[in-house]
Amino acid sequence: MKRISFRFDTTYNSDYDSLIIPVFADGQLPQACAFLDTDSELANLVKDLNDSADFTGGSGKTLMVMQPSSASIKRLLLVGFGKEESLTAKSYLEAIKSAAGALENTGAIDVLNACVLVQPAERSSDWAVRHNAQVFQQNFYDYAHESRGEHKNKEPKLESMAFTVEATPTATFAAQQGQASALGMAVTQDLANMPSNFCTPAYLAETAIELGKTYGFETHILERAEMIEMGMGSFMSVAQGTDTPPKMICLSYKGGAADKAPIALVGKGVTFDTGGISLKPGASMDEMKYDMGGAATVLGVFKALGELKPNINVVGVIPSTENMPAGNAIKPGDVVTSLSGLTIEILNTDAEGRLILCDALTYAQQTYKPAKIVDMATLTGACIVALGKHVSGLLANNQPMADALLAAGEETYDRFWQLPLGEEWDEQLKSNFADMANIGGPAGGTITAAQFLARFVKDVDWAHLDIAGTAWVSGDKKGATGRPVPAVLQYLLNEIK
Ligand code: BES
Ligand code: MN
Ligand code: ZN
Repeated sequence: MKRISFRFDTTYNSDYDSLIIPVFADGQLPQACAFLDTDSELANLVKDLNDSADFTGGSGKTLMVMQPSSASIKRLLLVGFGKEESLTAKSYLEAIKSAAGALENTGAIDVLNACVLVQPAERSSDWAVRHNAQVFQQNFYDYAHESRGEHKNKEPKLESMAFTVEATPTATFAAQQGQASALGMAVTQDLANMPSNFCTPAYLAETAIELGKTYGFETHILERAEMIEMGMGSFMSVAQGTDTPPKMICLSYKGGAADKAPIALVGKGVTFDTGGISLKPGASMDEMKYDMGGAATVLGVFKALGELKPNINVVGVIPSTENMPAGNAIKPGDVVTSLSGLTIEILNTDAEGRLILCDALTYAQQTYKPAKIVDMATLTGACIVALGKHVSGLLANNQPMADALLAAGEETYDRFWQLPLGEEWDEQLKSNFADMANIGGPAGGTITAAQFLARFVKDVDWAHLDIAGTAWVSGDKKGATGRPVPAVLQYLLNEIK
């Protein structure tokens, strides 16, 4: 993806070909536009457009004005933020997104962006810079896999963008972080949007290896025979019904002190989930190509880490397979032995995510001795029922860690909502024929799924992100969102401080 070059410039001048100006309701210019005093013609124009009702600063509205004044700037993009006192993070970000959309099919190349507003009051100007960098860079994303056929790819003209604030070290980092986040999201979106006949476990592994070559990550891929030999009976039971080779994909980024235990990111990589013998209904089954959204998020976060090179150690562990019905597929009632030695009665083959994640969690702990583990998975439809599609589910065995993730989610507006864990839910996993069943009945499905994973987490801080509702959107805008790359990246960066 083409990169925007971000700069800072507090002096308004007409070297730019375009200027983006924020406007509040009734044509009010924010404090951020004080620099416009040097071009009263532009300020008057905003007032005239308001008086004539052509542009009144309505939230998320935009108006492009060509050759707006005798001062030779070519384009003026007015962006409405609504009533100043009603501005929220959501309305701010939506307005920025419309601005990026309005600029998209224009000839704008070098832009001065004055939309670095500090309202709502608790947001810093770094917050606004980070979000602008992320949104404008992310707007370049275009799913352009060859299988799309005649699709005409986006060819953005925009090259550079200056923000009208001081180039402090934190502002500079904010722009870099926003951009890295967007580049990471694009990796995640591309992998997730790609159909499962292209995005196989092997393709995910190749992507990890390519990222490793580009950014210097160590990578290690485990193959089926090796994993059977090692005793990953749970993961391998899901993979036994598919001819497509499963992979355990491991990456490590070493940006911190050599003796510092890493944070492990574990991502569910089911490249297609038919449900197996507990077959899913046909409607919308195509969307189960997105069941590797956790894996794609881990790889997207690694892309961002490679870009930013922060002072931290991170490992990624991705169990990846298809979940297929077949003559040799696992059947309800089958009992398997996980890598940890615990036995599992598989009462529903569609609860496969936890079956592959439990072995990945054990493997990650044995191999990397991580200080903390965050797993991410499109794990339960129940999470969508409980929380809808605007926040990811968060469950953790450690409250400070949950709080840190919740904070990172708020900072990036890539939010989480915490659900409880507890013995009562754990008891729902009782089996008459093994150490546990892989389902806990219809009540509290997101919690019992997390409770299952918790049984494989030994004395380490752990959080589980259920991204079933947030990894993609359905309907006529169907596509991967790139979530929760921004929040997980923010969480890792906050861990350094
Ligand atoms: N990948 C699905 C969860 C899912 C479903 C995510 C729909 C997003 C949209 C997962 O493997 C699954 O099938 N879970 C079952 C668990 C059940 C059998 C206990 C579910 O949610 O129905
Ligand atoms: Mn399933
Ligand atoms: Zn699944």
